[in-house]
Amino acid sequence: MNVSVVGAGRVGTAMAVLLGRAGHAIVAVSGGDASRERAAVFLPGVPFVGPEDAARAGELVLIAVPDDAIGPMTARLAATGALGSGRWVDHVSGALGLDALAPALAVGAGRLATHPLQTFPDVEGALDRIPGSFMAITADDGQGYALGERIARDLGAEPFRLEDGHRPLYHAAAVFASNDLIVTAAVAEQLFRAAGVPDPRRAMQPLQRASLDNVERLGPAEALTGPAVRGDASTIERNLAALKAAAPETVGAYVELCRVALDIAVRVRHLSEERRAAVEDVLSRWR
Ligand SMILES: NC(=O)c1ccc[n+]([C@@H]2O[C@H](COP(=O)([O-])OP(=O)(O)OC[C@H]3O[C@@H](n4cnc5c(N)ncnc54)[C@H](OP(=O)(O)O)[C@@H]3O)[C@@H](O)[C@H]2O)c1
Repeated sequence: MNVSVVGAGRVGTAMAVLLGRAGHAIVAVSGGDASRERAAVFLPGVPFVGPEDAARAGELVLIAVPDDAIGPMTARLAATGALGSGRWVDHVSGALGLDALAPALAVGAGRLATHPLQTFPDVEGALDRIPGSFMAITADDGQGYALGERIARDLGAEPFRLEDGHRPLYHAAAVFASNDLIVTAAVAEQLFRAAGVPDPRRAMQPLQRASLDNVERLGPAEALTGPAVRGDASTIERNLAALKAAAPETVGAYVELCRVALDIAVRVRHLSEERRAAVEDVLSRWR
C-alpha cells in the first residue's frame, strides 16, 4: 500500500520505517525542520514535502501530529482537496476519537485510528517497542477495522478493537499505566536524594522492577504492599510529616494515592474497617 505520513515525528517516523520494512511503499512525509532531519536519517530517499503533497501521495495517510493539531490539519487537508474518496486517513492518538477526522469523512475518505499502547521518547525506542505492543483500533466499519488490524500486524503489534466513545477513558488508563509510573519514579528519586541515599536511581531499580514483575505475576491488587494495605496509620503519619518538611508539594499526591490503596486493601486484601478508619483519620488531617 502507498503510505504517506503527515507529521514525521517520533511515532510517525517509526511507523513509516516499520511499515516500509513490512513491504509498504512510503511515498512521502511532512513536518517541520526537526522532522526533515529525522526523515533524512530514518527514511532516506523518501520525499519530504508539505502536508498537502504528502496527503495527496498516500492511499493511507498517517496523521501523526500532536493531538491538538489533528483536527485542524485534517480540516486543512480536506479543504485543499488533498484527501478524497478511495483514500484512508489514520490518526495515532489514543485520546481522540474518529471525530477529529470528520473533515476527511466529509470528502469521502475512510477514517480510522490506530494507537500504539506504548511510550516513545524517541524514534529508536519506537522502532524497538512497537513490535510486541498492543494497538487500539477504532474505525467506522468492517473495512476500516480490517485495515487497522492489518496495519497493526504489519507493525508487529497486536490489535484490539476499541469503541470510539471509550478512547478518552482508555487513554486516561494509559496515563496511569505509563506516565504516572514515571512521575512517581521522579518524585521517589528526588526524595531518596533528599534522604541521602547514594545513587537513588540505581538503588530504586530493583524495587521498581520487582513491583512491575509482581503486577505481572499476581495482578495489581495482590502485588500491593505497604503501609496503607497493612493499615499502619502511624507510619503514614510519619511519612506525611517528613514529606511536609522536605517536599510539601508531594503531600497531596501521597494522600490521594493512599486513599486509592486503602480502597484496594479493603476490597481485595481484607483490611478491617477499624484499621481503615485509623488511616482515614490520619489522611483527613493532611488533606
Ligand atoms: N510519543 C508517544 O509516546 C506516543 C505514543 C502513542 C501515540 N502517540 C501519538 O502520536 C502522535 C504524535 O506524537 P509524537 O510523540 O510522535 O509527536 P512528535 O514527535 O512531537 O511529532 C509531531 C509531528 O507533528 C509536527 N507538528 C508539531 N506541531 C505541529 C502543528 N501544530 N501542526 C502540524 N504539525 C505539527 C512535528 O513537526 P516538527 O517536530 O518537525 O516541527 C512532527 O512532525 C500524537 O497523536 C500522539 O498522541 C504518541
